[in-house]
Amino acid sequence: MAEFMTGLKRSCYCGEPRLSDAGKTLTLCGWVQRQRDLGQLIFIDLRDRSGIMQLAFDEDTDREVFKKAFACRSEFVLAATGVVRERTSKNAELPTGDVELAVSELRILSKSETPPFAIEENSKVSNETRLKYRYLDLRRPDMQRILTARHRIVKAAHEYFDDNGFLEIETPDLIKSTPEGARDYLVPSRIFHGKFFALPQSPQLYKQLLMVSGFDRYMQVARCFRDEDLRADRQPEFTQIDFEMSFVNQEDVMAIGEGFIKKAYKDLLNIEIPTPLRRMTWQEGMNRFGSDKPDLRFEMELHDVSDCVKNTEFKVFRGALAEGSVRGINLKGKANDLSRKEIDKLGEWIKSYGAKGLAWTRLAEKETSSYEKFLAPEEVQAIRTALDAEPGDVLFLVASDENSVVYASLGALRCELARRFDLIDKSNPSLLWITDFPMFEYSKEEGRWMAMHHPFTMPNPEDLDRLESDPGSVRSIAYDMVINGYEAGGGSIRIHDTELQQRMLEALGFKPEDAERRFGFLLNALKYGAPPHGGMAWGLERLVMVLLGIDDMRDTVAFPKVASSADLMSNAPDIVDDKQLNELKIAVTKE
Ligand code: AMO
Repeated sequence: MAEFMTGLKRSCYCGEPRLSDAGKTLTLCGWVQRQRDLGQLIFIDLRDRSGIMQLAFDEDTDREVFKKAFACRSEFVLAATGVVRERTSKNAELPTGDVELAVSELRILSKSETPPFAIEENSKVSNETRLKYRYLDLRRPDMQRILTARHRIVKAAHEYFDDNGFLEIETPDLIKSTPEGARDYLVPSRIFHGKFFALPQSPQLYKQLLMVSGFDRYMQVARCFRDEDLRADRQPEFTQIDFEMSFVNQEDVMAIGEGFIKKAYKDLLNIEIPTPLRRMTWQEGMNRFGSDKPDLRFEMELHDVSDCVKNTEFKVFRGALAEGSVRGINLKGKANDLSRKEIDKLGEWIKSYGAKGLAWTRLAEKETSSYEKFLAPEEVQAIRTALDAEPGDVLFLVASDENSVVYASLGALRCELARRFDLIDKSNPSLLWITDFPMFEYSKEEGRWMAMHHPFTMPNPEDLDRLESDPGSVRSIAYDMVINGYEAGGGSIRIHDTELQQRMLEALGFKPEDAERRFGFLLNALKYGAPPHGGMAWGLERLVMVLLGIDDMRDTVAFPKVASSADLMSNAPDIVDDKQLNELKIAVTKE
């Protein structure tokens, strides 16, 4: 029978007692990390979220208490009362390693079956098992540390934004579907047959409405939902640290954003981030790093070698030049560390970024190349010079008639090579703003221009006259905060003028009646005195990832989803009762 806490009160956490506490009577509660039975002596390591404390039972211990200690197994839940004393053999690895608790009263509050994996740091267990038994996985010290850090980032956000006059205001979770970006999660209405709510992808429209309402400085730690294909840095439900402010320009929003990230690094890691942060335009990020979220902790920049081959006979390169380009990177000094087979594999891998192939030159003792034989000697030399090639280097080139393909493939290759050859200097975080994003990107799938950020972003006034005639050349007043190669956050100055907002929606291909149906409430609100406003949002999970150096976003979430968006622990999503479906007047069609 499980025992209770009646008459007992926990004195402190297991990780807290020190030698200075010797002689004090304490009550500790926690889980059995392990029990060691040495015959006349029993030791139990008792664990809670703060650490571990050794409980000791010996010949002076009451026999009933000793018997209970003997029965304890891993993960039993105990309350132990006793006197703190100095240990005879100390454990320098534990903060509590100088002391133990000589137990006089022991209660077994709960028994435990043998857990499916050992509850310890880095325990070797598959991800599936960890997620199925997430409540046990979360007992592990590394997971407890991560969730504690997550809490501290949220706390820093609340403190920072409160200190700067921001009000936290909750926006609704059941809203109108305005798909533009990711897919919405839909919630059927019971009252309105055939109608649906959507879960918010972000509080975007509502925070803008709060600006119209005069709240001036808003923040929220907001849950967001996006039904998109998952990657290692995405979850279908995630949290944003979101803010919006009125009467501001881009500089004001960035200053507030920098202040928060500075505080987060200081509070969590005691690292001083120098501000203002470095800035780079989107175009420069693409040209130099093939990415709008460049990781600047290593070099290996892209070089445009189109000019070197502008008169070439080589069809693969020439065919790219009219609309696209030929660009390359130089992997310095690794010619002997990358085999022909590995290069071929990279050539296959890079096709997933749209490249048709990977051209390469390996400057080992015996030089080999996939393309040099097709070029004139002066073209070969021009490329080598442009890429600053030296003996020992490996050169990689991608040619495509779409620049976006060249950027995406070389940008990804650059990161992959840096990871593989351990070229990333992890001692200094790399933070920067990417600015001047294009307003639109063309979606082949949809056959129309889409907003790169969102349709409420202010176009750069200098480019407004080309909104209809040349949308591809219009820049927006949008900015991303990039940390260690991750898009940690992003935002923009918004359109606060009804006419411009309508014009923007038209440029995006919305017919006036569609625009009215979907965004009418925003367009209306803008008619009643909307102040100039802007803001941004960070992904909380991404912040935890970059601050703690975690690669898998699932580790930053207490109860995450797997790639199929399912929850392995509760088995959600799941079928529901016919009664529920009937109430909603929903029929499920068979696959
Ligand atoms: P955006 O869509 O860029 O902007 O999102 C802001 C930040 O949220 C994080 N993020 C995600 N994190 C985890 N899983 C996801 N699926 C996911 N999607 C996005 C990223 C990203 O930088 N309303 C605007 C912000 C604004 O303009 O103020 C917005 O949502 O870290």
